[in-house]
Amino acid sequence: MLDLTKNIIRPVRDLISGFVNFLYDYSIYCQNSSSIFRKSEKITYEIIKTYHALEKSMTFSPHDKYAGGGVALKLYKLLCLKNSKYGLGVMDKIGGNVLLKYLVLSENKESDFIRSQDLDWLLYDDEKGGIKKIKRDYIQQGMFEKPEDFFLTRFSIRDFLPQHVPKDLLLEAISLAIKTPSSCNRQPWLVHLVSDEHTKNKILDIQFGNRGFGHKIPNILVISMNSSAYTTACERYQYWIDGGMFCMSLIYALHAKGLGTCCLNWSQEYKNDLKIKKIIEVDSSNRVIMIIAVGYIADEVSVCRSDRKSIDDIVKVVER
Ligand SMILES: Cc1cc2nc3c(=O)[nH]c(=O)nc-3n(C[C@H](O)[C@H](O)[C@H](O)COP(=O)(O)O)c2cc1C
Repeated sequence: MLDLTKNIIRPVRDLISGFVNFLYDYSIYCQNSSSIFRKSEKITYEIIKTYHALEKSMTFSPHDKYAGGGVALKLYKLLCLKNSKYGLGVMDKIGGNVLLKYLVLSENKESDFIRSQDLDWLLYDDEKGGIKKIKRDYIQQGMFEKPEDFFLTRFSIRDFLPQHVPKDLLLEAISLAIKTPSSCNRQPWLVHLVSDEHTKNKILDIQFGNRGFGHKIPNILVISMNSSAYTTACERYQYWIDGGMFCMSLIYALHAKGLGTCCLNWSQEYKNDLKIKKIIEVDSSNRVIMIIAVGYIADEVSVCRSDRKSIDDIVKVVER
């Protein structure tokens, strides 16, 4: 009987559950990532993706003034659409600035056409959008004398002091994490700060990795990603990647502020995913990707050794 359960019943149950959960993912993809529905925010994300392509082209040296006409025309049409249907938000306005800056540098028939239109409605803060020149010295200010002191002192902390972390300190760390790169700079992340006991416990009750220490977690951050930022089937998994990168930055930013963190996985079936969305009242287009426990670190804590693989195990030099 044990073998039957292990060899047949469980694998079949996993297959069925996998299928049902793929359907859940697919329905979110159809409603938000596919281009069937073009809600206001989806158009903005398309604008960001498109203007980012123009911004990139402006950084190339030597600059090709004949390139990018098709992209510029697409951006212009998207801006017209957004403006006429919903009005322009900040990110759209930055897109308008990028277009205007591109037009100064370009020579092609699409640019001629756009220039012949009334473009005054696109004027916005000149400090936004486009490119800027920076010195190597400026970038290298970020170098650590001893990077080990930063990277090797981060551990997953499962023992916190009871007091809550002030909201402002969390916001400072989140502000740093906003610098995380994302595909086409779309930044579709959202962070819910939860310190209220009732809400926090409701979330921890349906997260399976906090057993034994959940009661010691003072604050949790729920990280979710807006799936409507992504447009094609190629990008169907992109939010896990962008979101994972954001989470890592946030964890390091919190570490830089002297706080302890522990990732709490959100590898969940659809039922709990629906539950957490209801608890934090997030739009159905958002995918929760991780919860981060955060708090002040107790004077002395036990951490898992979590030994790492050797560098030889994970590096393969491609010589062909
Ligand atoms: C995506 C992700 C999910 C995780 N989920 C949990 C979790 O649910 N509970 C937990 O105690 N630790 C969790 N961890 C922490 C890992 O166990 C830990 O990062 C790993 O053992 C390495 O240890 P270190 O963080 O101390 O270097 C998670 C880590 C990651 C990256």
